[in-house]
Amino acid sequence: MPVAQRQVVHRPLLLDRLADARANTDNLFSIVRPDAVYERPIPERHRIIFYIGHLEAFEWNLLHERALGLHPFHSEFDRLFAFGIDPVGGGLPTDRPEDWPVIADVRNYVEQVRSAIDEGLQERLSSEKPSRELTQLLEVAIEHRLMHAETLAYMLHQLPIDRKIRPTFHAETVVAPVAPEMVDIPAGTVTLGLRRDSGAFGWDNEFEAHVVDVPRFSIDRYKVTNWQFLEFLDAGGYEERRFWSESAWAWKQEHAISHPGFWRRHGDSWLQRTMFQEVPLPMDWPVYVSHAEASAYANWAGKCLPTEAEWHRAAYGTLDGNERNYPWGNETPNRKLGNFDFQRWDATPVGSHAEGKSAFGVADMLGNGWEWTSTLFAPFSGFEPFPFYLGYSADFFDNKHFVMKGGSPRTALCMLRRSFRNWFQPHYPYVYAGFRCVSH
Ligand SMILES: [Fe+2]
Repeated sequence: MPVAQRQVVHRPLLLDRLADARANTDNLFSIVRPDAVYERPIPERHRIIFYIGHLEAFEWNLLHERALGLHPFHSEFDRLFAFGIDPVGGGLPTDRPEDWPVIADVRNYVEQVRSAIDEGLQERLSSEKPSRELTQLLEVAIEHRLMHAETLAYMLHQLPIDRKIRPTFHAETVVAPVAPEMVDIPAGTVTLGLRRDSGAFGWDNEFEAHVVDVPRFSIDRYKVTNWQFLEFLDAGGYEERRFWSESAWAWKQEHAISHPGFWRRHGDSWLQRTMFQEVPLPMDWPVYVSHAEASAYANWAGKCLPTEAEWHRAAYGTLDGNERNYPWGNETPNRKLGNFDFQRWDATPVGSHAEGKSAFGVADMLGNGWEWTSTLFAPFSGFEPFPFYLGYSADFFDNKHFVMKGGSPRTALCMLRRSFRNWFQPHYPYVYAGFRCVSH
């Protein structure tokens, strides 16, 4: 077999996935005007320049010694770009743009890291089948980058529109409006988590698999829309103390929160701040709000947010007791089934993807916005942190973060697996996250 042909045959899928993930984040940074890379769109987070260096620094720090036997060539940047900021507690960062390296040096570092990693991986993977350990490290690198592709989208959403370069225009999805209604879900069992002996990749918090009994309940067929949330707002929901927990009320008062973070008042009406423009509030889009606001709405409506187990039951359960891999069945996700995998920058109307509904007829469980649950983020029985990334989940088992399930327009396909768990603190208003309510 000619050498070139053999290389093509042996180019591992993981390297293609890494290359695709890099192209994805490169495209994302390309929407930032060159004179805006030192800006800080979210006060609690780093400046954009940090993230340009961070993705490579993380991969280098993860792989160079453990997987590739390579020596550091820029230890200063390896440290400078190593860690992000979690905004719970603590003051706001006070660094100045001039505290950061010039962009040309950061881009040079990125190029050098990519070349070194690619050469090292090609060498290892052309001579041996990837070990389970190496596969796991590469999955971590790829999913870490793709998670940042999503959280960076939240961040760039907050960058003023005139600081961004708009790529291609997508025609808006128009569907017949749907009426809110609830669906009865009979009692049953759900499997949360992933079996360690399955060999499938999952983050540390996805293990171990276990079965949970779920009593009957009913759940909204669609995510709560802007229109429904506007009813809550117009009814004075933001001023009514009893709908808010003590900490949520304190947060709301301190930051003068009086409407969803993605809305802006315009005279007598409301605008939605999309990634590249402000548009009249699309009434049939899912509302994106913090956990605190979602909980207040549920209290006002006399309902609750679902637990993680209830959410699973509505998404993956069936009448015959079997569980599906995805809400629609076992077919791997494709773009007809939901608004996910970077197809769009923003939401579509609820109910836009009828083929993606669950066995119980619940719509849009994957994509079009994460969904808040009432479940505090905590380890499953049998949890073990990754030895190479001890704090990935464990740093957040603090009873201050809530589990989110589902996925947003900017969630990669690989993270639509059933066991994937996302989590955020309840007062962070920038996430593409909405909710639906349950009754018991
Ligand atoms: Fe990171």
